[in-house]
Parts: sequence; structure tokens; C-alpha cells
Amino acid sequence: MKIHILPLQTHGDDRGSLIALEEGKNIPFPVKRVYYMFNTGEGVRRGYHAHKTLKQVAIAVRGSCRFLLDDGREKIDITLDNPCQGLLIESFIWREMYDFSPDCVLMVLADQLYEEGDYVRDYAQFMDMVGQ
Ligand code: TYD
Repeated sequence: MKIHILPLQTHGDDRGSLIALEEGKNIPFPVKRVYYMFNTGEGVRRGYHAHKTLKQVAIAVRGSCRFLLDDGREKIDITLDNPCQGLLIESFIWREMYDFSPDCVLMVLADQLYEEGDYVRDYAQFMDMVGQ
């Protein structure tokens, strides 16, 4: 499985740092939705789904968390702990997020509005859909 980490250019000076996210520039799709997770409880593991068509970029804008990514053939574990990096997650990737630091703010940009029909929430069904 190819993991795409998008480097996000930081505009920093002695006042601090600033990152701009722009569709078609550092975000490779039209941005229709942005959501973020925070105050995630200790030991919480969430996600447990794949998407049929949705593309997303996840950024730990503060703190850290880990992603388990699974395309049905291979599982990859990746830590997001850098606000200068975006994790691109294509469709048909099962994801679980865990090990959130107490201060973690995980922001996600998506190319579609929220649509429950785009979710695959059953792992056996996901494996079936990816032909495994
Ligand atoms: P959920 O899909 O359970 O989150 P995760 O996949 O991270 O475990 O979403 C939690 C709740 O938030 C659920 O009631 C659906 C709602 N939600 C929205 O209304 N809009 C959104 O863009 C997202 C991602 C979730």
C-alpha cells in the first residue's frame, strides 16, 4: 500500500508558524468538508470504516495519534505528530485511529459532504469489496 504523506509548507518567522491549505495546491482534491476531533478519551480507538469514494487528508494540528491503515492486503501503522504533514487517505482504505494524546486535535479535510451511504463499517464486507 502506498502511503502518501503530503508535506505542508510552513510560513514561519519570529512570530510563529502558519500553514495554508489550498485545494489543487497542497490538497489534491476540492475541499468540501473539514472536521476535527479533539478531547478524545484515553484508550479510545475510533474510525473502523472505509469509504467507497471519499478522499481525505488528516493532519494532527496539535498532539499526536496513530492510524492503522488497511487496504485488505496490507496493514500499515503510522503516527501523525507533525502539523506540517498531511496523511492522504484514498477510498477503500480501512482506518482505525488510536493512541490520541490528550491534547490531540486531528483535523480532516474531505472531498465530499458527510454521507453515511459512502461508509463501509463492516470489516468482512470491506474485505469482500476489495476482493480479499
Ligand atoms: P463517526 O463516523 O462515528 O466517527 P469516527 O469514524 O471517527 O469514529 O462520527 C461520529 C459522529 O459524528 C456520528 O454521529 C456522525 C457524525 N459526523 C457528522 O455529522 N459529520 C461528519 O463529517 C463526520 C465525520 C461525522
